[in-house]
Amino acid sequence: MNDRVTEVIEVNPGDFDVRQLDPARRALCADRLVAFPTETVYGLGARALSEEAVRRIFEAKQRPATNPLILHVASIEQARSLAGSWPDEADALARAFWPGPLTLVVKRSDKVPDQVCAGLDTVAFRIPDHPIARALIEATGEPLAAPSANRHTTVSPTTADHVLATLEGRVDVVVDGGPTAVGIESTLISAVESPPVILRPGAIDRRTLGAVVHIAGRPARPEVVDEEKARPSPGLSKRHYSPGVCLRTVDPTTFRRLVAGDDQRRAFIGLGADSHTRSAPGERMLRLPDDPRRYARRLYAALHRLDALDIDEIVVQRPPKGDLWEAIHDRLMRAAASDEAEGY
Ligand code: TXA
Ligand code: MG
Repeated sequence: MNDRVTEVIEVNPGDFDVRQLDPARRALCADRLVAFPTETVYGLGARALSEEAVRRIFEAKQRPATNPLILHVASIEQARSLAGSWPDEADALARAFWPGPLTLVVKRSDKVPDQVCAGLDTVAFRIPDHPIARALIEATGEPLAAPSANRHTTVSPTTADHVLATLEGRVDVVVDGGPTAVGIESTLISAVESPPVILRPGAIDRRTLGAVVHIAGRPARPEVVDEEKARPSPGLSKRHYSPGVCLRTVDPTTFRRLVAGDDQRRAFIGLGADSHTRSAPGERMLRLPDDPRRYARRLYAALHRLDALDIDEIVVQRPPKGDLWEAIHDRLMRAAASDEAEGY
């Protein structure tokens, strides 16, 4: 299906005129696909209320129809108008964290097409905290359905180049607004239950959410769901974040041993980078910061880079434990997608 020319428009998120987004707005209004930056990762956007546009998202990503999409909205009122119910806890979370990297699952109304919700009776919303994303939603005048702008089972994109790597010719317009600030996906929380349940850990950690509403306790192990079945908490299929080569996480001692015995078939992601740490192209040893937010910002770019090298395996030094690292451990476990992931 690589039959389209992908137009790339560069837009400075700190200083742009909304008319620069015209090609993107026109494409969306014609039920076409537009990849755009959000504060978390790039999204593959289309008009959420158009069945044709939504069908194109699934086709371009090669995403199973059982995996529902997030609706990116301009306001709490817009979300409420499409929701079947809007519990107090959802309202409190939306008011505390929107715009921002939090996605809320609530009961849906019949205004939302079935395909968007993969036939579930719930729907996911968020207001992104990114000027380009918000300008596009406002220019279109409608919510935009937007999964991460990568092919199914590949690593989510944090730059326009990452988007083009798997979707060139499958997306009509890519708005290049530079690298994303957060670097991993939003926290996904279901407010259908009370107390609300975290379905996917993400940029906003459990403790920060817990300061606003009581959140259900952590499951013993993250749930992994069969791809083929309808899912109570979709998106938790195991290989979701896998790069093309295999990945494993190891303790610091094993990490040092493997680095010392390097046979050139492995690449490494260690800890302890500072703001001066730069790595040359083709280098197989990368270091990421000890701080979880800065680590998250750089993780996917590191995976994209190492994935492009001629290697068999990426070895990742296991980061520390703690609430702020929960989403990182989750992504590494899914990227590893093997028994090595035990303990997360
Ligand atoms: O940060 C993000 O959330 C990014 C940016 C683009 O907004 N989007 C993103 O979308 O990560 P996607 O489609 O790659 O992941 C959305 C997750 C999926 O795992 C999907 O299964 C889940 O949200 N989801 C969507 N609707 C749901 C629903 N009604 N109930 C449970 N999970 C849902
Ligand atoms: Mg995704």
